[in-house]
Amino acid sequence: MQEAYTKEFIAILDYGSQYNQLIARRVRENNVYCEILPPTTTAEQLKKSKKLKGIILSGGPASVYAEGAPKMDKEIFEIGVPILGICYGMQLISHTLGGKVTKADKREYGLSKLLIKDFSDLLWNLRSTLDVWMSHGDQVTKLPPGFEPIAYTMTCPFGAVRNRHKKIFGVQFHPEVVHTQNGKDIIKNFLIKICGCTGDWTMKAYVKDAMDNVKKMVGDKKVLCGLSGGVDSSVAAVLIHKAIGDNLHCVFVNNGVLRKNEEDEVLKTFRDGFKLNLHYVDASERFLNKLKGITNPEEKRKIIGGEFIRVFEEEAKRLEGLGGMEFLAQGTLYPDVIESVSTKGPSAVIKSHHNVGGLPKDLKFKLIEPLRELFKDEVRVLGKELKIPDEILWRQPFPGPGLAVRILGEVNKENVEILKNADHIITEEIKKAGLYRSIWQSFGVLLPVKTVGVMGDERTYENVIALRAVESQDGMTADWVKLPYEVLNIISSRIVNEVRGVNRVVYDISSKPPSTIEWE
Ligand code: XMP
Repeated sequence: MQEAYTKEFIAILDYGSQYNQLIARRVRENNVYCEILPPTTTAEQLKKSKKLKGIILSGGPASVYAEGAPKMDKEIFEIGVPILGICYGMQLISHTLGGKVTKADKREYGLSKLLIKDFSDLLWNLRSTLDVWMSHGDQVTKLPPGFEPIAYTMTCPFGAVRNRHKKIFGVQFHPEVVHTQNGKDIIKNFLIKICGCTGDWTMKAYVKDAMDNVKKMVGDKKVLCGLSGGVDSSVAAVLIHKAIGDNLHCVFVNNGVLRKNEEDEVLKTFRDGFKLNLHYVDASERFLNKLKGITNPEEKRKIIGGEFIRVFEEEAKRLEGLGGMEFLAQGTLYPDVIESVSTKGPSAVIKSHHNVGGLPKDLKFKLIEPLRELFKDEVRVLGKELKIPDEILWRQPFPGPGLAVRILGEVNKENVEILKNADHIITEEIKKAGLYRSIWQSFGVLLPVKTVGVMGDERTYENVIALRAVESQDGMTADWVKLPYEVLNIISSRIVNEVRGVNRVVYDISSKPPSTIEWE
């Protein structure tokens, strides 16, 4: 548990529901700091936190009677802070305290009407009927002593329950999902009205505390940081720099397959603007040489990943020569941390084989991860607090192997140049149309075919660019974007007019699944 910068802390015990990250998000939206902890967390461990204001028991796929179903430490009820059980969490509370949980006739999944009987605490200030999101098989059929229902649905007499005296609450529905009307208010009532939180989790406080932590950890030693120009590494680097100044050494590797002007922008922003100690390694020739003749996408990934590690290691060795280089900074985010602590963990993370841009594992550094308590959108708020420009904070994701997996077939200088120019036009026009932030990714792909065209009186035989634009929450599934015809039109005509070697543009209208976002 890490809660240095707040006076308030909510513990969320993770019983494996797919919605668990959402619970944490909803809590933090109320400026209350929380962490997701394993279901095996004991009352003893929780009591160590003097700031503990309340406990949320999450939903989960198990049935309380199933063999191996996650249990809770009964002593948790004696800590004396309010408890809210959601779905499985509520069933677990009932089961543990002597109520009864039964298999419902049929699984209830989707929206139900919740009728509220008591508005005095958890359901304070709400309308008498709400649409709520249900997703359960079992349900509570007899309440433990001291409990009473405060809301119900047609099929579920105990839609929401409480033990007023002990401040223990349970809801059979999921207040954390957007489909539940006023779900946010229910969570807010729990935090503010019931647990007495004031909401002291702010990014300003976070910056100060994170800086203090970095200073304390690093002392007068040096930190090495791989800067890619993406959101996470940029925010981590600026934060650490604010704490320890020039003892931070950032390394930025140009692998030859970056977006147009990317290296200039990164240098301008971070070296000139933020005055970071930025070591620029132009390894583009080296990468392109290795990629010669390679057409297999996975081979390209391996070559780029492997070469990146070698280049980074060489640079790290050189910098170690400066002495005192003991730490390696990484932009690890909270979802990665949750995945490693929880029973099931969230499913929505980008495939691990994609993380080829990752840093070498066997470097003898201690890790420093100043973003490990934050969600992606919190990292953006932090970045804003640190005055990092929006162009960096709102950059669409870009794969580690870069343009190499968007050039189908062999990667060489000539086709890198063609794709850079076409891709640049796409980004410019998508930004001009005000669509850049709402689109998950928009980019060009250079196809390995030539087609016939006509320019003036001349017949041409040149390359095709495929335009790809997708909407997505996490990259796991995606829908192609219905771009306005005018935008398609201007992108297409600008590319064929301005990019030498391209005479045709096509639009990719496939979603994921069954297609993937990238073409390789
Ligand atoms: P796909 O193509 O699998 O991509 O639908 C899903 C998301 O992952 C990104 N991606 C990668 N990111 N290295 C990365 O760092 C990779 O090798 C890689 N391949 C795909 C892709 O851009 C999309 O956001």
